[in-house]
Amino acid sequence: MAKERIVSGMRSTGEGLHLGNYLGALQNWVQLQETYDCFYFVANWHALTTGYGDTAEMRNWVRGLAIDYLGAGLDPDKSVLFVQSLVPEHAELHLLLSMITPLPWLERVPTYREQQQEISDRDINTYGFLGYPLLQTADIIMYKAHWVPVGIDQVPHIEFSREVVRRFHHLYGTEIFPEPQPKLTAVPKLPGLDGRKMSKSYNNVIYLSDDANTLTQKVKTMVTDPARQRRTDPGDPDLCPVFDFHRMYSTEDERQEVTLGCRTAGIGCLDCKGILINNMVEALAPLHERRAQYVARPDDAMDVLESGSKRAREIAQDTMAQVRDAMHI
Ligand code: TRP
Ligand code: SF4
Repeated sequence: MAKERIVSGMRSTGEGLHLGNYLGALQNWVQLQETYDCFYFVANWHALTTGYGDTAEMRNWVRGLAIDYLGAGLDPDKSVLFVQSLVPEHAELHLLLSMITPLPWLERVPTYREQQQEISDRDINTYGFLGYPLLQTADIIMYKAHWVPVGIDQVPHIEFSREVVRRFHHLYGTEIFPEPQPKLTAVPKLPGLDGRKMSKSYNNVIYLSDDANTLTQKVKTMVTDPARQRRTDPGDPDLCPVFDFHRMYSTEDERQEVTLGCRTAGIGCLDCKGILINNMVEALAPLHERRAQYVARPDDAMDVLESGSKRAREIAQDTMAQVRDAMHI
């Protein structure tokens, strides 16, 4: 039986991907490559919806995200990896869909109002920003995707794309597209270095681009249970962000050892972190190695995505032929 198809993408906003992005999304994308027919892309047009005022570094950001994708283990032999703007058919489909999309459908997408309120340093009261979910719809249905791995915040966008698909089928009397569904994954909880949510704006982030040394330094500065001021004070792993990392990277035996040592002040925080650092460096070594190859030859990463874009384009041209036919264009 043919594999079901998956499409997903991230915006190239220039913020390098961090461990939270990896565990929350990319790691899952990598696994899905084994069982699905996957299309993963760099959403550089979507990045323009909020970043149109400062495009000087756009190409570097696309390349940076390409390197993050490949470093994380997205594999051009398993998936089609591409850049949105290298498949201009997305723009044509977006335009045609815009003709049939009622304005109120876009206006009531929750992210629209939320972002309007949140972003105050630039004007996003634009046509393009309102159309964000419709461009996303074009990205998805272009490849007739069944599943879209996204975070919970994106579910209304997928719902929206299902409505657009139904309207298209109803208007033109032909069923071209599957109705895409969100594929939610359990996101393991990994806090930032200060115990808050990992986020660039808090400056508490471990980047995929951090090498073993940087990673080691960052973990050493991590916040611990505040009750453990001195080596002789006992602590509580359940109140310590370092232990959240142990849950992700250490063995059950190590967690027991750390828990006992922490509660009895039998080990110090630096010992505890040392165990974690070893495990993280080992777990991330394959990522770091792959990444280093592309960092040394960044054009290789773009070559990979350019050839993926050619493959994506063949499928997109096929879909567009069907769409134009259905609409008698
Ligand atoms: N909106 C997505 C996000 O903010 C990015 C995106 C653009 C996307 N087009 C897509 C995700 C198509 C999945 C499918 O993360
Ligand atoms: Fe946290 Fe480990 Fe220190 Fe306990 S010993 S407070 S778990 S870093």
